[in-house]
Amino acid sequence: MRYSMKHSTDNTVRFSRGRSVFRCPVCQESLRCDGDRLICSGGHSFDIAKHGYVNLAAGTKGSAEHYDKASFQKRQQILNAGYYSHILEALASIISELPNVVTVLDAGCGEGFYARELARCLGDKQLIAFDISRDSIQLASKCDPDGLVQWFVGDSAHLPIRSHSINCILDIFAPANYGEFRRAMTRSGWIVKVIPGNGHLKEFRALAKNHLLHQDYSNQQVIDYFAQHFQLADRRLVSQTFTMPLSDRQIFADMTPLLFHIDRSEIDLAKTETLTVEGEILIGRPLDGDEGLDKPPRTGKHTKRSQSTERGKHAKRGRDAKRK
Ligand SMILES: C[S@@+](CC[C@H](N)C(=O)[O-])C[C@H]1O[C@@H](n2cnc3c(N)ncnc32)[C@H](O)[C@@H]1O
Repeated sequence: MRYSMKHSTDNTVRFSRGRSVFRCPVCQESLRCDGDRLICSGGHSFDIAKHGYVNLAAGTKGSAEHYDKASFQKRQQILNAGYYSHILEALASIISELPNVVTVLDAGCGEGFYARELARCLGDKQLIAFDISRDSIQLASKCDPDGLVQWFVGDSAHLPIRSHSINCILDIFAPANYGEFRRAMTRSGWIVKVIPGNGHLKEFRALAKNHLLHQDYSNQQVIDYFAQHFQLADRRLVSQTFTMPLSDRQIFADMTPLLFHIDRSEIDLAKTETLTVEGEILIGRPLDGDEGLDKPPRTGKHTKRSQSTERGKHAKRGRDAKRK
């Protein structure tokens, strides 16, 4: 009993911290923390789960294709082993230098590595993080016993976030919805997006070359598409090649979307001892005169196009892998 009361108090503190940026996924009225739930003036309420997250993904299926609990646990093993720490360090440095950033929203946060670590090293910021997968958010919130991050289950296509309330949107190796991101960002806000660099996992690409449509990868289309929606203020390539034990290569191969569609028995991981982890970080601002989109995304023509094109790219990556 005492245990659950402590959680309730901790979670109230967690969701009362900073400004409330949440809006009701049903009626779009502002949400505020009331004990162990978030409520709106329209009478809708959303319980804060014991481990400190709230489900604001009303009506979505609560998972993304190919991502299950086991794949998030493997991703967490790889991230905690330090194979993405050079990307984390670059992000911490970039965000700490951006002016006037108080609220940071990590979109498609997975098991929560970046949000958790950024909350630790950028203590003055309000970290909010979400993913469409309930499994990932459960894992993320369990790994955040100090309540540093406000976690929620949500969909990038229908953000339960008030318009123009977020100073910095982070989108790390995750699908984006630029219409929704522009609506949620403050007019002087930032988007920091990490995409695979052209050399990302090039050793795995070489091993899987007979099963991929394109042996070489170019991220140029993704960058061009980003630049149609935001002013591209800066971009940075962050790359490191690791000598990795076979056991880690196996876990890596299990969790990376690059190999989601490939029969793993066809790839001999013993043939490489190294693996390159390369991210390209795009730093964007709203376009001149961009007022964002204040309407819910379902009615936004622009938003639909943004979503479908981003999805298209992910689907293409899938097809890329499938064709043999
Ligand atoms: C490659 S993982 C990246 C996770 C995390 N950002 C990281 O770098 O470790 C892509 C993530 O996007 C999430 N995702 C896919 N579609 C989404 C959507 N519509 N809204 C929110 N998250 C989504 C998946 O569940 C998955 O956790």
